[in-house]
Formats: sequence, C-alpha cells, structure tokens
Amino acid sequence: MNQPVTKICKDYISELNEAIGEIAPENIFILVDDVTYELCLPETLKSAKLEGSHVITIPSGDINKNIESAVIIWKYLSENNANRKSLMINLGGGMITDIGGFAASTFKRGIRYINVSTTLLGAVDAATGGKTGINFLGLKNEIGVFAPASAVLINIEFFKTLDQQNLRSGFAEMVKHALIHSREEWNRILKFDLESISFDELSVLVASSVNIKEKVVEQDPLEKNIRKALNLGHTFGHAFESYSYKINKPELHGYAVMWGMLCELYLSHVKLNFPKDDLLKLKCLIKEYYGTFNFDCSDYELLFELMTHDKKNESKEINFTLLSDIGEIQINQSATKEEIFECFDFFAGC
Ligand code: GLY
Repeated sequence: MNQPVTKICKDYISELNEAIGEIAPENIFILVDDVTYELCLPETLKSAKLEGSHVITIPSGDINKNIESAVIIWKYLSENNANRKSLMINLGGGMITDIGGFAASTFKRGIRYINVSTTLLGAVDAATGGKTGINFLGLKNEIGVFAPASAVLINIEFFKTLDQQNLRSGFAEMVKHALIHSREEWNRILKFDLESISFDELSVLVASSVNIKEKVVEQDPLEKNIRKALNLGHTFGHAFESYSYKINKPELHGYAVMWGMLCELYLSHVKLNFPKDDLLKLKCLIKEYYGTFNFDCSDYELLFELMTHDKKNESKEINFTLLSDIGEIQINQSATKEEIFECFDFFAGC
C-alpha cells in the first residue's frame, strides 16, 4: 500500500499542477461541499490543469458523510463518463476527504484521488493515511476501505478562513501526535501560542505532526498494531462526542478528543505511572483553551454504554491506547468500569 508523502504547499497552484501532471488523468472531478465551494474552489480553479473539470458539490457537515451523499457522487461520476483514467480531487476538510476517498476508491473498483486539505483537523488527521469511509446507521465511519490517496496537499492559506474553535479542534490532534511521539515534540506544542496564532509557526508544527502520523501509518497501514497509537484520547473522546450529539449540543471532534486524552492520561497515570506533571500540563492547556464538557454522575452509565459500542473494541472489553510516559505507547489496554468511572470523576472535578 503506497502512501504518498503529504506536501505543505509553498506555491499551491504549481504544486497542485505537479500532482495532477504526475497522474495525467483523462478527466478530473473536484469534490467540494457548500463551504469549500465558496472559500477554496475559486483559488483552486486558477490551475490551468483544471480547465474543463467537473465540480461535484455535496452538503457540508459530518451528518452528510452518508450513503446518500456517496450516491450523489457515484451518480455524477457515472453520468459524466468517469473511468479508470479519471482523477478525483477532494477539496475540503475530513468529511470531504473521507467520503471522496471512499467514493473514488469504490467507483469502477477504484479511481485515483488527491486530497487537498482545507482544515487543520483534516490536514493533520483524515487527509493522510488512506482511511476512507462514511457514517452508517448512526455509527461513525462504519462503511469504508483503506485506500491511499495519490497525493495529499495542505494549503495553510485556507486555514485562515477557519474560526478559533475549528483551529483549536485541529490542534488537538497535533497534541495527540506530540504525546505519542516525544518529549521534544510535546514541549514544542506546549510553547505554541493558541491565543494569537502565527500561521508560519503553525505550518512548521503541522509539517512535523503530519510526519509523525505518516511514520506510524507506514509501519502499520491497516491498523493491526502500532497505528492504534493514533486512537489515544478517542475511546473517551468518541463517547463525549456522541453524547453531545444525543443531547443536541454538538461538540467539535478535537474538543472531545482533548477531553478524552485527559481521561486517558489520567488512566495512564493510575495504571501505568504516566508522569503526573505531564497530566497536569495537559489539564492546564485544556482549562485555558478548551473549557470543559458539562456532565455529572447521572451521565456516567450512558457514557460508559457509548464506550462499549466503540468499533475499536475487539471483545467485550473496552480497548484503550495508553502511555506509560510521553512517547511510550501501550496499545490494547483495558480498564474496569470502576476505573473508567474514576476517570469521569477526575475530569468532572477539573
Ligand atoms: N485517525 C486515526 C488514523 O488515521 O488512524
């Protein structure tokens, strides 16, 4: 499974032209949502290579990462002569790169696709690593395939259209990469000023964050083993996220992951002696920039129930990735219900 090296663009149009040129497609389909149609497509269409290309627009938001949107894409491809020599360009955040990658890699058993990530969250997570998919029957990414993009481009200029919350949401996955990687990376992340973001500094950190993910994926593209490290914070995080949707107060993915990481590092501290000092540093970062998730003891059972449905679980046990120190990954860890409730207590008391 050949994974492309993600490029942080210095000159977006010429790097896009180069990526398209290497594929030399017969025709090109650009997938956008209604937001990237307005904010990112005009700049992208400056590429002469995109003259005469088709634009497919689907509604934005994770709620639309579903089979109906996939059908819209497949139908458009079918009716407009897409074939094995066609190229799809997914221009958007994680929702667009996930569904676009899925639609492309299943159409006529697979056409090539390029991801152009327009959000920080998408850039440091979904765009890289070849996971594609859609939500189904209320379950996130329930249907999908592993199918790497031919190229992944990140244009930091597009991040300037994002609000503070979406930038912070993306930054959460960078925090995760730093924690699983090294103390040096963790210290760099802690120094970054989230209050007044320098996009030049962010660009350097994004490059290193994506590189950490690429190295993990290279070792284990199908998530049989060490790629599970990338799930740090996501077992608790997905429960917080799903719960927020259930009570109609949706939280951004990265916020839920940050809270999830706090719970999982607390669990790491209790079970594996993860350093308390680093746990407290994460707690401070969260207090300052992410606030808290409002829940109390009466919500514990439902949150626990949501965690038991996580597709990362292999048997009845809830599966965690924990750390015994910064960069010291321990996959396939489990915890009792009492230990999980203790994590909720710790988080609720923060
Ligand atoms: N989002 C985690 C992974 O790509 O494995």
